[in-house]
Formats: sequence, structure tokens, C-alpha cells
Amino acid sequence: MLENKSSVLGVAGHVARNVMLGFQQKFLAQSADRILEPAMVMNVDDQLKQYAEGGESGGLAIAYELIIHKFQQIAPEKGQALDICSASGVLLSKLAAMRKDVQFTGIDLAPLALQLGRKRVQSQGLTNVDFKEWDMRRLDSFPEKDFDLITWNLAMHHCDSTDEVVGVINGALKLLKKNGVLFICDVERAKTRDLAVRLSEEMKPYVGDILYEDTLNSYLAAFTFGEFAQILGRTHWQGYEHFHPALGNFFQFACTKVQHKHPQVSRNTRGKTPLALKIDTFLVKNMMLGKM
Ligand SMILES: C[S@@+](CC[C@H](N)C(=O)[O-])C[C@H]1O[C@@H](n2cnc3c(N)ncnc32)[C@H](O)[C@@H]1O
Repeated sequence: MLENKSSVLGVAGHVARNVMLGFQQKFLAQSADRILEPAMVMNVDDQLKQYAEGGESGGLAIAYELIIHKFQQIAPEKGQALDICSASGVLLSKLAAMRKDVQFTGIDLAPLALQLGRKRVQSQGLTNVDFKEWDMRRLDSFPEKDFDLITWNLAMHHCDSTDEVVGVINGALKLLKKNGVLFICDVERAKTRDLAVRLSEEMKPYVGDILYEDTLNSYLAAFTFGEFAQILGRTHWQGYEHFHPALGNFFQFACTKVQHKHPQVSRNTRGKTPLALKIDTFLVKNMMLGKM
């Protein structure tokens, strides 16, 4: 009982600090320049393991909540989907479990990630996910097209230039059906280096040391909201919306405007999430996503 109480207080403190950091991110001037990710491709066993743990029940699961919330509103009800930079498919398998009527292909350049992804979907009994080794910079020559949905999550910051991002988005648009949905989410670059450090420190209790470093690197490698707005303006994409979640402004989304909203689908909860994180996720979702 006492333990639960202190865990709730701990989580409340964590959420309060995150909200404070969110306000600072919103109002501080941008002083942190972009620092490229040290390793663009994730092909190291321990790194992938921590990434997967983080996505299943650690700090990354909170980011996934934000993505899933929006995804549920815009994902088509059936058809073919392409997930660019799917890594070992932790998020992809969550999306695929919610949309069994959609056939997903996950692509990544890291063979080890794909191998783990295949094992993951097999162990979860998901028959609607395939993986393919493919470079996101070569979408132009991807063998399939006419996708109903293309997702690109938490990976734009792995591009080494704005030109590369424009190329990936234009490449994705060529693979999309006329009324298909393109869905992009990434973190936003921290306004200051100190903010990037403090944000990553908040994640530290929930992630391993490698994922902690990865988180810090991502906050420094990401594009600012303004940079991404300019990138989007240079693409062939018409009719997109680009926005921050209501308060969760370390994340930014760009997605095709969808007129109709699909009903919420039941969530695939496997009961592995620790109580503290469930509360955290619940609070974050309700505080930050009310207006999404
Ligand atoms: C941070 S992970 C994102 C994973 C996943 N989308 C998610 O939301 O959890 C970024 C992934 O991009 C992949 N990647 C980096 N450069 C790539 C490229 N040129 N082509 C394909 N995948 C690439 C990395 O190997 C890594 O798995």
C-alpha cells in the first residue's frame, strides 16, 4: 500500500517535471544546433534489446502511446501499409495487432533488427506483418506500391540532411495510393543542450544506459518544428497537417488530413507494463492528448 503510494507520488513528480520541461521547450529560444546521430543504423544486439524493452514497458512506451492515439484516428480500416525504419518492430507489432485487416511491411537497413522483428511477430502470432531489408533513401525503386498507409515513426532524425528527409517523403508519396494516408512522427530537437540532458534524465529510471544515450542523441539530432515545416513545404505533399500534441511538444506529427474518424479499436494489452508506467502513460495521455 505504502509502496503504491510512493510510486504514485514518484510518478506524479515525474509527470509534473515533464510538463515543466515541456513549457521550457515551448518558450525558450533555440540554441542547440543539430548534432547528427553517431550511428544512423541500429544493428547492435544490446541496443536493440534495450530499445525493445523501452518500447514494451519502459520510457519509450509513453512515446508510443502518443503515436498510437493519433494512429487510431487516421489509420484506414483495411489495405496495405508500409512502415519505414521499423527497427525490430516493437511499435509496428502494436499497430498491426490493432489493425489485423491491414497487411504491414516493415523496412529497415539493419538485418539484426529485422531478424528480431520476424521473431517478435511470430511469437505474437501476428500474420499481417512482413519485414524487408531496404534503405529508406531508395523508396523510388521499392518493388511494391499503391499503399493505403505509410508510417515513419521516430526515425526522421536518422537522416543526415534536410534534403534526405525531402527525398524520403517524396519517395513515400510515390508509393502511396491517391487517397492513402502518410503518417510521420518524430521528436523535436531540444531548444537547449541542457534541456536535452534533463529530458533524457527523466527517462533514465525507465530505460537502460544505451537507450538513455540514444534518447539524448535523438533530442539533439532531431529537426526543430520550424525546420520540419520548411522540409514539408519543399515536398510534393499536398493537404498535410503538421502539429504538436497539445502540450507534449517534444513530439511533432505530420499526417494526411483525414475527414472521417475511425472508431477506437480495442487495445492489445499484454499485461507487462508496470503499474507506475501505466499511471504515467494514463496521465500523460490525458494531460497532453485531450485535444489531439
Ligand atoms: C529510432 S529507430 C525507430 C524505430 C521504430 N520506427 C520505432 O518507432 O520504434 C530508427 C531506425 O531507423 C533505421 N534506419 C536508419 N537509417 C536507415 C535507412 N537509411 N534506411 C532504413 N532504415 C534506416 C535504424 O536502423 C533504426 O532501426
